[in-house]
Amino acid sequence: MTTTLHTVAVIGGGTMGAGIAEVAAQQGKRVKLYDINPTAVTGAIEGIIQRLDSRLQRGKISAAQRGAILASLIPVYQLSDLADADLVIEAAVENLEIKQQLFEKLEAICSEKTLFTSNTSSISITNIARHLAFPQRVAGLHFFNPAPVMKLVEVVRGVETTETIIQQLVDEMHRWGKQPVTCHSTPGFIVNRVARPFYAEAWRALEDRVAAPEVIDSALRDAGGFAMGPLALTDLIGQDVNFAVTCSVYHGFWQDRRFLPSLAQQSLVSAGRLGKKSGRGVYDWSLPHPEVIAEKTVASRVQKVNVYPAGKREVDGVSVVPTEGETATCLAVRHQQPTVVYDLSLGSTIVLAAASTNTRQQTESVVHYFQQQGKTVLLITDYPGLLVSRTVAMIINEALDALQKGIASAEDIDIAMQTGVNYPKGPLAWGGEWGWGRVLTLLENLQHYYGEERYRPCPLLRQKALLAHYALSRSTQSVEVSHV
Ligand code: NAI
Repeated sequence: MTTTLHTVAVIGGGTMGAGIAEVAAQQGKRVKLYDINPTAVTGAIEGIIQRLDSRLQRGKISAAQRGAILASLIPVYQLSDLADADLVIEAAVENLEIKQQLFEKLEAICSEKTLFTSNTSSISITNIARHLAFPQRVAGLHFFNPAPVMKLVEVVRGVETTETIIQQLVDEMHRWGKQPVTCHSTPGFIVNRVARPFYAEAWRALEDRVAAPEVIDSALRDAGGFAMGPLALTDLIGQDVNFAVTCSVYHGFWQDRRFLPSLAQQSLVSAGRLGKKSGRGVYDWSLPHPEVIAEKTVASRVQKVNVYPAGKREVDGVSVVPTEGETATCLAVRHQQPTVVYDLSLGSTIVLAAASTNTRQQTESVVHYFQQQGKTVLLITDYPGLLVSRTVAMIINEALDALQKGIASAEDIDIAMQTGVNYPKGPLAWGGEWGWGRVLTLLENLQHYYGEERYRPCPLLRQKALLAHYALSRSTQSVEVSHV
């Protein structure tokens, strides 16, 4: 196979094709841009010129660099003009037959050494390559939008793809200044699979009328440390696009309930409320973003606080515990004590829920306690696993499932989620830090509460929780022995 990828053919002059062509041209590649619709090629090049002009004005590139990038972009209007390509990156419309036909035609046009890659976000690479004489040279090269800005590229192996090709693509992406990760071709690859619960749990909370959209978004953003709330993010991505990815992953996994799409999101799509691009989605984008109503600050007063291990406290006789996936009411009834449950909080905000048997004064005491700790308090309906903890636990579980099935390495999964979707921590590192046992308990409790497959813990989570427990008991024993 060729080692110098001098000429790059980009197929498709839409959002992704234009961005990828720009990235390749910046690397000094000779870039041939083809689209079945010639005006898409012209449009893509005009878009690139505009972006380069803006960068020139901001002093990010020189006039010479702008000229060199544009000189290396070659619009072509026939597939046969791609004969001398060393690397093909296909970014045509998301349709299996179109992609299969394109590569079949290219196989007859290009050299046997040409690398064939697809930027597909949801179609199996194995399936794209199935009718080819040399399926071993076909891989996924999944860029993120906008391609010139986003560093992550998932390099995807089909069943037949050789490791030499994968390594060559990884090296090439490093040279392009990208962050490649490798994975096997399974629905959603890494990012679009592991990220599903981020959206799904928010839709569920909305459907269950737990809190207003802006409260759910604030919880994940201001307490969870995510760059944006999940509902606002679906409005930006486009409800139709996000819903299509969810449906594709759901069907790709044979309707596994873990990936069940949301009826609320489907309704928005049916109504044409597609998010920012249509003016309305979860939010009305013609209005200022609604403010989050936090609990009012309670006047300072003296409180009796006892602090216990594992984050448990007692504030003025109210039991205050981190969520383990049970409702506050359930705990209050079991322990015959007023209870407030709190959520995972990495930031300035914390989500709380009070048992329905608490008096208002008892709950206010706890609100006051957290405000004294400098937190903005969001008090929501009593909801098991609250908003952040259940979402993070589900993401960790999904990451472990991908790891267990050998889809990608632990390192690549964490890099992908931090680089591709800006998660505050890699989910696997997060799981280890938070405690595998806590993640397991939370999911088991949710599964018990709902009686649903959706929350079933992955076997690797059980194993990690067991080993963590074993390691802890061994270290406790050795401490006890050393005291003897
Ligand atoms: P787009 O709709 O903006 O552009 C698709 C282009 O493909 C159009 O210009 C269309 O004329 C062209 N096309 C259709 N049939 C063709 C054919 N037979 N030969 C050549 N060109 C043809 O789509 P977009 O968003 O750029 O997506 C392209 C690919 O990238 C899809 O596979 C998509 O799943 C994937 N992708 C999209 C991302 C996004 O955020 N938009 C992110 C990552 C991957």
